[in-house]
Amino acid sequence: MRHILWIFLFVAVTGCAYQSDIAADTAPQQAVAAPDTFSANAAMAVLQEGGNAVDAAIATQFVLAVTLPEAGNIGGGGFMTLVHDGKPGFLDFREMAPGKASRDMYLDANGKVKPHDSLYGVRASGVPGSVAGMWAAHQKHGSMPWSRLLQPAVNLAEQGFVVPEKLARNIERFVKKGQEKGLSNNFSRYFSKATAGSTFVQPELAATLKRIQNEGKAGFYEGKTARLLADFMQQHDGLITEDDLSRYQAIWREPVQVSWQGYTLVTAPAPSSGGIAVAQWLGMFEQAQQGMTPASHNSVEYIHLLSEIGKRVFADRAKYLGDPDFIDVPMAQLIDDKYIARRASQVNPAAISDSQSIKPGLHESEQTTHFSIVDKWGNAVAITTTLNLGFGSGMVVSGAGFLLNDEMDDFSAKAGVPNFFGAVGGKANEIQPYKRMLSSMTPTVVLTPNKDVALVTGSPGGTTIISSVTQSVLNALHFDMSAEQAVNAPRFHHQLWPENTIRIHSGIDEVKQQELQRLGYTLKQQNFGDLQLIKRTPEGLDAASQRSGRGLSLVEAPAASDQ
Ligand code: GLY
Repeated sequence: MRHILWIFLFVAVTGCAYQSDIAADTAPQQAVAAPDTFSANAAMAVLQEGGNAVDAAIATQFVLAVTLPEAGNIGGGGFMTLVHDGKPGFLDFREMAPGKASRDMYLDANGKVKPHDSLYGVRASGVPGSVAGMWAAHQKHGSMPWSRLLQPAVNLAEQGFVVPEKLARNIERFVKKGQEKGLSNNFSRYFSKATAGSTFVQPELAATLKRIQNEGKAGFYEGKTARLLADFMQQHDGLITEDDLSRYQAIWREPVQVSWQGYTLVTAPAPSSGGIAVAQWLGMFEQAQQGMTPASHNSVEYIHLLSEIGKRVFADRAKYLGDPDFIDVPMAQLIDDKYIARRASQVNPAAISDSQSIKPGLHESEQTTHFSIVDKWGNAVAITTTLNLGFGSGMVVSGAGFLLNDEMDDFSAKAGVPNFFGAVGGKANEIQPYKRMLSSMTPTVVLTPNKDVALVTGSPGGTTIISSVTQSVLNALHFDMSAEQAVNAPRFHHQLWPENTIRIHSGIDEVKQQELQRLGYTLKQQNFGDLQLIKRTPEGLDAASQRSGRGLSLVEAPAASDQ
C-alpha cells in the first residue's frame, strides 16, 4: 500500500496554480488536525458544542500540556496564526528571557559556550508565555466560558489517561539520555510511572490547571503558581522571578501576508523567522521556475533548487532576524518582490554554490508541536507551541507539576556558534533581559482570493519546521496533493550549514539520492516534523496528521441542531 502511494506521488508532479473552484459551496464542516487523540477529541467536542476555532484551540493547548508532555505545555510558549471573521491575526506568546539574563550567561571564563547550560536545568528556561497567550486569545475571540475550555485538561490530569506507547518510549529515552549525560533533574520522579498502557495521573498539574481555570491568567502569573515557580528557581539557582512572571504579556502582532500563486499566505512574523523564511522560499521557487520546465515533485532538480534557495533563506535568518521589540527587523525588504527575484536569479539550477559565498542578501525544533483547526464558520487557527527540545529542560516545578522549557537555547549564545538545531546567529538574536528568542515556528493559514481558508498547516522540528511548512504548502497547493499525501510525502531540508548537507526523509528514490551525491551533496537520513494539515477541496475539508506521529485528524459536519 505504501509503495503504491509513493508511486502515485512521483507521477503527480506538475505544478498547479490556484484552483478557483476550491471554495465551492459545500455543507458546513469543521476539522481538526492535532498531534494526539486526546487533544483532537477535546477540540472536536468544543466545536460540536458550538464553540469556535479559538475556543477549540484553547482546549487543545491545555490538553496537550497533560497528554503530550514532550511539547504540549503551560511552561513553554508558542505562536497562533488565525483568520477570524475574515480578518488575519497573529498572537505571540513566545517565552522571554528573565530580567537577570545577560548576553554571555552561557559562556565560560574563556569565552567558550558551556555545553548543556542553555538546554538542561532551570537556567535554560525562558519566562513561559502559553497561559498568557490562551488568555489573550480568549479575551479577544473566545465564545465559550474559559472554565469549560480548561475542563478536559483538568479531567485528564486528575483522573488520568492511558499512556500511548510512543509517549512511554519517549519518556524512557529521555531518562536514559539524562543518565548518560549525567544530568540532574526531577523528571523521573514525575514521569517514571507513565508506562505504556498504564493510567497516568498528575495531581499537582491538575491543581495548577484548576487555579488557571478559576483565576484565568492570574492563576499562573500571580499567587500560588507564581510563588511555587519562583521558589523552585531560587532553590536551583535559576533566574525567573515573580516580577518576571507579572511582567509577561502575550502580544498581538501583524502577521506576514504575501501573495503566492494567487493565494494569500498568512504566517508568522518575528520573533519567528518562519513566516519570512517560508515566504522567501516559496517566492524564490516561483521566480526560479519562470521560463523553466516545471520541476517535478522530489526530482533531483527540485531538491537541488529548494536546497540552493534554503541556503539564502538561512543566511538572511542568521543576520537579520530577532525580537522586533529589540532590533529593527527589515521584514518588508526581506519579502520584497524585487529582492526575492534578485536572490532567485543567483541560484544556478545545475550546480551547488559555495556555502562560504552565500551572504545575507540585503545591502544596506527536538520537539515542539502543532495543531490546525477550522470551524463551521470558516475561521481558522494554527498554533505551534513548544518547550523547545522534548520535555524541555527536564525540570518539573515542584508542587505545580508542570515542565519548564529550555527555550534559552534558541538565542545565539555566542555569535557564529550553532545552537542545538545547528542555527547560527549574531547580534540580532543575542540574549538581553526580557527579549524573546528567535524561533522557527511557522503556524500558517493560506487564503483564496475570496478570502476563504484554503489551507492550515504547521509542524514541529526546530529549523526543519520551515522546510516542512514550505513543502506542505507546495505539496498541497502547487502539486495539488490530498492532505494525507501532503503530510506524508518525503521531505528534505537544507539550512546553509553544515556545508552542502541535505537532511532527507526515508522514501526518496535511491537513484535520485545517488544523483544528488554525484552533484556534491552529503545526504543525512532524518525523519523530521509532524505536520498537522487541513485543506479545503471542492468536496469539502480534508485533514491529515503525519503518519510517523501519534496525531489524529477529524472532519465532521456540525451537530444537526447547530447548523
Ligand atoms: N524551539 C524551536 C523554535 O522555536 O524554533
